[in-house]
Amino acid sequence: MRFSHRTDDIPAIVTDQVDLCAIICQEGFASQQADGKGCSGLRALDAALDGLLLMLATEEHFTGKKGQALQVHTHGKVGPRRIVLLGVGKPKDFALSELRHASARAVRAATASKCQSLALVLPATEPADAERVGEFVAEGVLLAGYQFDKYLSGDRKRPTTLTEVRLVSAAATGAALDKGIARGEKIAHGVMQARDLAHEQASELTPRRLADFATELAKTRGLECEILGPAQCAELGMGCFLGVARGSDEEPRLIHLTYKPPGTPRRRVALVGKSVTFDSGGLSLKTTEGMLEMKYDMGGAATVLGSLGVLAELGCPDEVHVICAATENMLSGRAYKLGDVLRSMAGKTVEINNTDAEGRLTLADAITFTLTRIKPDELLDFATLTGGAVVALGPHIAPVMSNSPELVHKLLAAAGQVGEGMWQLPLPERLFDSLKSEIADMKNSGERYGGAMIAGLFLKEFVGETPWVHVDMAGPVSASKEWGHISKGPTGFGVATLVEYLAPAAPAAA
Ligand code: BES
Ligand code: MN
Ligand code: ZN
Repeated sequence: MRFSHRTDDIPAIVTDQVDLCAIICQEGFASQQADGKGCSGLRALDAALDGLLLMLATEEHFTGKKGQALQVHTHGKVGPRRIVLLGVGKPKDFALSELRHASARAVRAATASKCQSLALVLPATEPADAERVGEFVAEGVLLAGYQFDKYLSGDRKRPTTLTEVRLVSAAATGAALDKGIARGEKIAHGVMQARDLAHEQASELTPRRLADFATELAKTRGLECEILGPAQCAELGMGCFLGVARGSDEEPRLIHLTYKPPGTPRRRVALVGKSVTFDSGGLSLKTTEGMLEMKYDMGGAATVLGSLGVLAELGCPDEVHVICAATENMLSGRAYKLGDVLRSMAGKTVEINNTDAEGRLTLADAITFTLTRIKPDELLDFATLTGGAVVALGPHIAPVMSNSPELVHKLLAAAGQVGEGMWQLPLPERLFDSLKSEIADMKNSGERYGGAMIAGLFLKEFVGETPWVHVDMAGPVSASKEWGHISKGPTGFGVATLVEYLAPAAPAAA
């Protein structure tokens, strides 16, 4: 995608030849226009069209409400062949990160009309936010054009026809926009990488192939890479991880990547991602319906791997480790059984009362590996851990649990900045009761109610004093329908937040 911008002579969009000119409109834009304020590009276009544009907006009741759209063909009267007004709601409710969604809508409108060039007229923003604007717009544009088309043939491969996007903003300098666009492009690529990984069929993306991907990522991004096979994991005593892996014909892999910044690192951060490349449920077999999307059960790994590439590219000041205990959860004559007792790397024993609560077992050993071998200052895990998380907060918001109010506050602030839905759930000790076992230190699954928190309490047993947050992304890992920059299927959820948390954009020079 070729990005360019116009920040000086905005009314030139009247003469600029583009296939589509999309104007992002906030509620109240019409009265601003009448007062001679508001978007000068819109005013110039409207004047060149003899007032048709605003008249049509009035007739069609286009007020700039969120989700409204109004498209017109200009029949050669002005440079843009088409104009679309996109409503984004009230200015007071408008978060900068919503530019991602709005830009994506513009791209989808352009794609629907087979346009090659798009002029995107941005709403008024603070000059200090210019870089941010570039970042979100670039992300929205690129993510809206995303498609997993590897297995599509012929016409159905329809990457966007769009090749050129021109940003039009009176509130930004070209230099700031360019900087933001460059950052947004990198983030979008990390998100798309995560989406690609989760999209890939489980029969292709086995634990070994995920390890190959990590090895390749390490090569291209200059990371250290350590891959452990089952024998090495057995030596470390990872009985929980290996217990889950036992039922599969595919060997498990423990993946450990390290990014080291130039100079002395600010701190050491560990990102653990759940990496169950397929979750059949094991002997506690899932139904067809429940299993359909279980190739996404490595979505946590996709998020941390996708993020790490971006962090390395952006030059994050922290030393960042990514740890993924990759396995399938299958059933066979060798599969772990209900009633089995597994010994974790930490030494705690776990009685298995549901082989479908496998994620926490793999994570427990991944966490212990991380604490003993890496000794991070903080540990963040991303996992498609429980259906209960989706029951609790719905499909778009990930529950976050933590032993550290400071860390969770910082992560939620980052998520808020980039518009990813995360919300804290408590870890009430009393709920741990249902994990108590007569014959082992704990069971792997408890009662149904509060399932997301029970899983969080299980993990908490393994994290000790290290500041930790657990993000249960079972809901937002995938989307059931497209929504602006979110495509149907895997979303790459968490990449934007992690990049925002660990490598925030430099504050604008005063
Ligand atoms: N991978 C699933 C959780 C999941 C469910 C992710 C739906 C995405 C969408 C996990 O391994 C699982 O099976 N969890 C069980 C735990 C239960 C058996 C305690 C669940 O949530 O039902
Ligand atoms: Mn499961
Ligand atoms: Zn699972």
